[in-house]
Amino acid sequence: MDKLLIEGGCRLNGEVAISGAKNAALPLLCASLLSAEPLCLENVPQLNDISTMLHLLGDMGVAVKPEAGGLVLDGGGLDNPVASYEMVKTMRASILVLGPLLARCGEAKVSLPGGCAIGARPVDQHIKGLQAMGAEITVEHGYIHAKASRLKGARICTDMVTVTGTENLMMAAALAEGETVIENAAREPEVVDLANCLVSMGARISGAGTDVIRIRGVERLNGATHSIMPDRIETGTFLCAAAATGGDIRLTKTSSAYLDTVIDKLMDAGCDIVTERDAIRLKAPERLKAVSLRTAPYPAFPTDMQAQFMAINAVAEGVATIRETIFENRFMHAVELMRLGADIQIEGSNAIVRGVDHLEGATVMATDLRASASLIIAGLVAQGETLIDRIYHLDRGYERIEYKLSKLGARVKRVK
Ligand code: EPZ
Repeated sequence: MDKLLIEGGCRLNGEVAISGAKNAALPLLCASLLSAEPLCLENVPQLNDISTMLHLLGDMGVAVKPEAGGLVLDGGGLDNPVASYEMVKTMRASILVLGPLLARCGEAKVSLPGGCAIGARPVDQHIKGLQAMGAEITVEHGYIHAKASRLKGARICTDMVTVTGTENLMMAAALAEGETVIENAAREPEVVDLANCLVSMGARISGAGTDVIRIRGVERLNGATHSIMPDRIETGTFLCAAAATGGDIRLTKTSSAYLDTVIDKLMDAGCDIVTERDAIRLKAPERLKAVSLRTAPYPAFPTDMQAQFMAINAVAEGVATIRETIFENRFMHAVELMRLGADIQIEGSNAIVRGVDHLEGATVMATDLRASASLIIAGLVAQGETLIDRIYHLDRGYERIEYKLSKLGARVKRVK
């Protein structure tokens, strides 16, 4: 099992390019199931989750082949609408094949995703929405069995904002008969990226990016070419790493457009940030000021940046309160940060972080994707060596992270 060895104490300086967004790429790959013609995706990040999804789609009959700088996925040969437990248990986002399979094939058999470290993460809203569109769904022996001769448009209001729930229902509605209205829809930029791609395939969608999305179903979708949006969470993660180490970095192939709340918090913490059309420059102060935050659905502060801000608050001046409102168990990085000397108190969904003068390197364990990122940030500022175990979590969502960090001057290497 790979580990990451970090020698702390160096400032990050220089320039790196940001990769395509994992959480846009995953639903976009599933959109290939909706058409019998090739979908060409560009700026696809090289991540383990992407490989897992491509393996799953390949098993279903989607032909995948690399093409200059991108991937061509041809759903013409789709003949096996099944997502097995073996595949789904390694990646929850596999649930995103359910809506497209039902819309294109009229049936689907998809394993219930297991829980994961950060919470139970049920998919009841996905099922409820598809049932509202006329699907007959039973859940037995750990599988979702769904059938629908043809889905019918419906008015759906999800009980809570769900990103992949909105994406699943939007893809299903694209080929349904009549109009579907999704209320309480997720407004995340990745939902908008998916909607833009579906429209380029011939779907009729309006309202993406707001909490009411209207989809008027069509008979079939065509092929298209779509370039995946930059990863706003990878961008935010590198900004936090530079902020914590007193660095000066420039991130390219990215945009500040979707990071307002994160950039505002980093400026409150004392960073000097300059945004360009497709780049962001951050110069950090000698020492950050603590910043409190509360996670919530977009456009509020993203839960996927919570762990990284806990790490920067661990060495900032002052006390910060972090409130996690999306997932019920997303503070597991706290105990690992405490092993490095952080002063954190967990009280329900609140974490009180008192900045300390310095952290000390130690051996720690990654528990989930963004927790891994927070441990890297802490290791970069800790005195001495930090060894991070179970970094397979990291490889799911960050492309060549040790290469990018080394390019910025970090002393980091992967060890077996
Ligand atoms: C997406 O997960 C992201 N993953 C997550 O990123 C992200 O943290 C999350 O949205 C919130 O922004 C992808 O896009 C692939 P939700 P998703 O459905 O869609 C509850 C990362 O690190 N809920 O918006 O699974 C759920 O338990 C990952 O890249 C139900 O109860 O999250 C949670 O408490 C982690 N029933 C809340 O809603 C449902 O049917 C929001 O979940 C669906 C969700």
